[in-house]
Amino acid sequence: MEERQKMTLPRLMEMKRQGQKITMITAYSYSQAVLVDKAGIDIVLVGDSLSMTELGNKTTLPVTMDIMVAHARAVTNGCKYGFVLGDMPYMTYQPSDEVAVINAGRFMAESACDGVKLEGGVSMASRVAAIVRAGIPVMGHLGLTPQSMSMLGGFKVQGRDALMAKRIMDDAAALEEAGAFSILLECVPDRVSKLITERAQIPIISIGAGPYCDGQLMIFHDMFGLYPDFTPRFAKQYANVAEVILGGLKQYISEVRDGTFPEPKHGFTIKDEQLAELKALVAEDKYSQEKGHA
Ligand code: KIV
Repeated sequence: MEERQKMTLPRLMEMKRQGQKITMITAYSYSQAVLVDKAGIDIVLVGDSLSMTELGNKTTLPVTMDIMVAHARAVTNGCKYGFVLGDMPYMTYQPSDEVAVINAGRFMAESACDGVKLEGGVSMASRVAAIVRAGIPVMGHLGLTPQSMSMLGGFKVQGRDALMAKRIMDDAAALEEAGAFSILLECVPDRVSKLITERAQIPIISIGAGPYCDGQLMIFHDMFGLYPDFTPRFAKQYANVAEVILGGLKQYISEVRDGTFPEPKHGFTIKDEQLAELKALVAEDKYSQEKGHA
């Protein structure tokens, strides 16, 4: 397999300039990260979607900085190539620029990720600028922003009317101006994303925002049928790994029950003379216990 150089910000910018599509996927664990990295995914997002996909919560809100840092560390341990982003959890950057810098710094120091992602446009531009001033790359996230679900009124496409679309365009311009190295657009009409992508000097990544962006993001669990509760319209399932795992689990249950598993090759042996000595020791113990009770 070809030896890949670690993905960097200048290379991502170059990909935008060259019109070379950027691939991005979420990963939440070491084993997922190893696979994603082997495949050669450019950007790996340790998304706060792990609150749902890995922890079974209904929203992204309950996930904490401690949980995110632990998962991000597992992912960076498995990634040699991909540019790893830690997703700033709910209320770890909204309160103030200072809080945002402290938590972004914690992500970098404790999980060794390459940058962070946060949600919001104009209202979060000063957070982005402060984090970037601290030397930490930031990806912005616009459109459907799950941390503001109550304000947005549910999982809905954003920017379908001209005014809302203009607001998203203004948000994108504000994030770029603030120093974001890239922007993720979630659930935005494709022709709105096209306008944003054409205007931006930085890579614009789509999740449900159509084909005209500079790159695409998919949620690992959606790609492989691993999230049973819901499959978003923008997701494409590339394999049904859940079915394969279920098949394996059923076979395991039946083999344990009928004694087919384990076979001698799955176990460890003890030499005959050691076993004989062990039995003698046990017999001696039993004898002395019996004597003790007598
Ligand atoms: O947390 C995440 O995985 C995300 C995507 C849903 C865009 O932010």
